[in-house]
Amino acid sequence: MHAALFALLPVLALATPVDKRWTASPYVGSTTTDLFPPTGTKVNSALFPGETAVGYPGVTLTGVEPAAIQTAPVYPYSDETASEFPLVADQPEGGSNFDVFKYWGNLSPWYSVPSSYYGLGDASPLTPEGCSITQILLLYRHGARYPTSGALPSSFAAKLHTAAVNSTWSSWGELDFLNTWTYKLGAELLTPFGRLQNFELGVEMRQQYGYLLNNFTSTDTLPVFRTESQDRMVKTAENFAAGFFGVPEYLDQVNIEIVIETPGLNNSGAPYEECTNSNVASRGSIGSTLATAFAVNAFNSTLDRLNSQVSGISFTPNDMVSMLQLCSYETDALGYSAFCNLFTEADFENYEYYYDLSFYYNNGYGSPVAAAQGKGYLEEWVSRFTQTPITKWDAANNHTLDSNSTYFPLNQSIYADATHEVVVLDTLTAFNLSSLFSTGALPTKQRTNSSFKASQVVPFGTHFLTQVMECPAMTPTKQMRFLVNDAVLPIDKSYAGCSYNKDGLCSFDNVVSVLQKRIQEIDFNYDCFANYTATPGVDYNGRAPRNA
Ligand SMILES: *[C@@H]1O[C@H](CO)[C@@H](O)[C@H](O)[C@H]1NC(C)=O
Ligand SMILES: *[C@@H]1O[C@H](CO)[C@@H](O)[C@H](O)[C@H]1NC(C)=O
Ligand SMILES: *[C@@H]1O[C@H](CO)[C@@H](O)[C@H](O)[C@H]1NC(C)=O
Ligand SMILES: *[C@@H]1O[C@H](CO)[C@@H](O)[C@H](O)[C@H]1NC(C)=O
Ligand SMILES: *[C@@H]1O[C@H](CO)[C@@H](O)[C@H](O)[C@H]1NC(C)=O
Ligand SMILES: *[C@@H]1O[C@H](CO)[C@@H](O)[C@H](O)[C@H]1NC(C)=O
Ligand SMILES: *[C@@H]1O[C@H](CO)[C@@H](O)[C@H](O)[C@H]1NC(C)=O
Ligand SMILES: *[C@@H]1O[C@H](CO)[C@@H](O)[C@H](O)[C@H]1NC(C)=O
Ligand SMILES: *[C@@H]1O[C@H](CO)[C@@H](O)[C@H](O)[C@H]1NC(C)=O
Ligand SMILES: *[C@@H]1O[C@H](CO)[C@@H](O)[C@H](O)[C@H]1NC(C)=O
Repeated sequence: MHAALFALLPVLALATPVDKRWTASPYVGSTTTDLFPPTGTKVNSALFPGETAVGYPGVTLTGVEPAAIQTAPVYPYSDETASEFPLVADQPEGGSNFDVFKYWGNLSPWYSVPSSYYGLGDASPLTPEGCSITQILLLYRHGARYPTSGALPSSFAAKLHTAAVNSTWSSWGELDFLNTWTYKLGAELLTPFGRLQNFELGVEMRQQYGYLLNNFTSTDTLPVFRTESQDRMVKTAENFAAGFFGVPEYLDQVNIEIVIETPGLNNSGAPYEECTNSNVASRGSIGSTLATAFAVNAFNSTLDRLNSQVSGISFTPNDMVSMLQLCSYETDALGYSAFCNLFTEADFENYEYYYDLSFYYNNGYGSPVAAAQGKGYLEEWVSRFTQTPITKWDAANNHTLDSNSTYFPLNQSIYADATHEVVVLDTLTAFNLSSLFSTGALPTKQRTNSSFKASQVVPFGTHFLTQVMECPAMTPTKQMRFLVNDAVLPIDKSYAGCSYNKDGLCSFDNVVSVLQKRIQEIDFNYDCFANYTATPGVDYNGRAPRNA
């Protein structure tokens, strides 16, 4: 190391001669003052009641405490590049150097996607040269959670348990661990790692955009950050706020607005509670059906291999998905899972594709109800950034809240809303962000390399960011762009009037006018309530076919 330093010195000496001298600014070394929080501000818990007062927490089933210090085969040192601190996952069967965390669809921990993936090789999330960011809007998903109620892993556990009660079965070899395995997962709640993800996102946002808090100067106004009433959603917003404002400061510096999520009530963060077609098999959930069909043939050789290591019980293709999900869920909740190394790299690629199909056709361009479900949030975006109250109620947003400036302020420099992954994707579809879907409808029978990867767009902690900025050298000076998990998205292909820009920028006013047209184009009532049949395998641009 010293030798290397010495070797560099002559070069440094040569480089040191000054080519340019700067004069010190008159402000150098002085202390500048921030304006936030304005003295005397207080959270108003009468206007913004907490979780218990709001109710509707959904299922809150706790699981068994993790014990990774005893169950994990290796320790999660923080400098291990191939791990997801503090989680540990084995390499796939027969594999090495495979980043298994990136093949779990919506159960993957979020990771940075390079802008080059969508064709903007030079774009960075940092403020483009010559611009300054004046306003942001963040839509983010909760961190890692337990399975939702009634998901596959618990049925798999019940199958093993039932078979053990009335008969005997045994397993050996790679499946030896199953003889003593128990089901330890709860349901719906955030896991410790999930809390970390939301807290860390809050810390990151504060570090990058803290200066925007200086816009909150009035003593009667604190930022309003929204979420839904489910327990994990409330905890998500609280962990984000704790990361952003600090503990206990977050209790005093932000109004967390908890919007009820329950069937029949309008809530842009949970539009499927209102949009009934989203739960109809031939409309809103064609993706789930396609994914299940794909899984029937996708794991054959592993199915045979695992079935050859049990007697008295036999596994089905569906059990392969359950066991892959146990790999993801146990790792996300307990820190390690013995299920992961039962599967091969090809299995994980098919597992990711299973989710790609499910999400592309349930909530992406292949869905007939995705744009309609994202329309409420789209209308809120336009309302907030143009400071124009919503007057036309034609989507799943909440009239009472959205027409009241206490609950839906139109002049914040920072907006941050927590939601579910399906809503993030519905929203991206409503925004017509076609670069996410540029390779077209996903083939339903055979895995291919499509531009849409669920683990990049809907993972735990996923976030969709709008940056609005002033760029004095550009015309017009007010510009903006969209980012998903650090990737800057090109919008020139689906936004008329936006031309290619290496930083993904487009005129703010032009984007607003495109999005206003998009609002007109999306027919919430038809897509959500009409009697039509959608065909799997089609790029619908997220809107229903007119075949009623
Ligand atoms: C075991 O078999 C008995 C008799 O057939 C049945 O009543 C019971 O429900 C079974 N138990 C389980 C756990 O399947
Ligand atoms: C937004 O406008 C309201 C009403 O004029 C005002 O009370 C509030 O302080 C403003 N908030 C911010 C963040 O500027
Ligand atoms: C809006 O949300 C509030 C509280 O979350 C709820 O009481 C109300 O019924 C909702 N309104 C509509 C129109 O859905
Ligand atoms: C996988 O197995 C199923 C029967 O379980 C069979 O119908 C199918 O052809 C097999 N697929 C492949 C690709 O081998
Ligand atoms: C929800 O919004 C829709 C569309 O604006 C409206 O038709 C419906 O009455 C609202 N539901 C409730 C419960 O307010
Ligand atoms: C907005 O909500 C607050 C608190 O519930 C209420 O006092 C106020 O009257 C509402 N404003 C309007 C315009 O409805
Ligand atoms: C926040 O304040 C800065 C500095 O005064 C200003 O340039 C920017 O436009 C403000 N942002 C909003 C959304 O008002
Ligand atoms: C898959 O497609 C993406 C972009 O659509 C591309 O960046 C990547 O290199 C492709 N991978 C393979 C293995 O072809
Ligand atoms: C949305 O994208 C589709 C397909 O890329 C395009 O046909 C349509 O014109 C776009 N909508 C708007 C309002 O730009
Ligand atoms: C929807 O349309 C189909 C085919 O036209 C028809 O069979 C069915 O009865 C209709 N369902 C409803 C609820 O109207």
